[in-house]
Amino acid sequence: MLRFRLSTTLLLAATCSLMTAERAITCGSEGNVQRLSCDDGVISVQTALYGRADAVTCSEGRPPAQLTNTQCSQVGTVDVVKKRCDGKRECELNINIFYTSDPCKRTYKYLETTYTCLPAIHLDACEGSLAQLQCDQGQVIFVYGADYGRSDQTTCIYQRPLNQIQNISCSNPTGKVADSCNGKNSCTIAVSNSVFGNPCIGTYKYLKVVYTCNCSHPGTTPVTTQLP
Ligand SMILES: *[C@@H]1O[C@H](CO)[C@@H](O)[C@H](O)[C@H]1NC(C)=O
Ligand SMILES: *[C@@H]1O[C@H](CO)[C@@H](O)[C@H](O)[C@H]1NC(C)=O
Repeated sequence: MLRFRLSTTLLLAATCSLMTAERAITCGSEGNVQRLSCDDGVISVQTALYGRADAVTCSEGRPPAQLTNTQCSQVGTVDVVKKRCDGKRECELNINIFYTSDPCKRTYKYLETTYTCLPAIHLDACEGSLAQLQCDQGQVIFVYGADYGRSDQTTCIYQRPLNQIQNISCSNPTGKVADSCNGKNSCTIAVSNSVFGNPCIGTYKYLKVVYTCNCSHPGTTPVTTQLP
């Protein structure tokens, strides 16, 4: 039993650490902008430092006195960056937003962020069916958005009369999928008016979900409060 548990943990740790992290460094001069982006998937910020942790980064043309303090970091930086960037395909951070409090006045600071790109999964489930969200073992669901309605004339149209698929401006963003699925390995939810209400009577609808499978770190509780 003990042995089994141990090997499972190691396997999960291996899968999750295989994801390569991207690194972005932006020197702290006024107006500098840091851009994070993912070609595939969405940003998941791992670490963020505003301050100085070594004497070399962003040292060009700077007097030594501005580089000697290598233990300078602004508290809460990672939360700021996460809030602005997590779940997005790309984001921009103007360095000025960190000027509000200065952790070490005479030191020339920089913003160093590491992040990974989590693959985003797009799921469409027709009205009357069951939507199934599923992650690999050791990963947990994190829902970015869910919408119950109709926004095109190509999804869920099989054997439907035209008048049921005509209205494509039927949108009803819902937090219910996040509420019941976030932090779980898999989850099933009925795609029906009784669950989501009926945003457009007479239209045959579907549920659109965008989610990722996060590596679940033992001991961390799933964050569900960051949803819009
Ligand atoms: C999952 O990843 C998203 C995007 O990076 C992040 O906002 C969220 O906090 C993560 N959730 C967990 C449980 O790690
Ligand atoms: C589509 O449905 C919505 C919601 O019921 C309604 O507000 C809108 O007027 C409808 N559009 C058309 C073109 O029928």
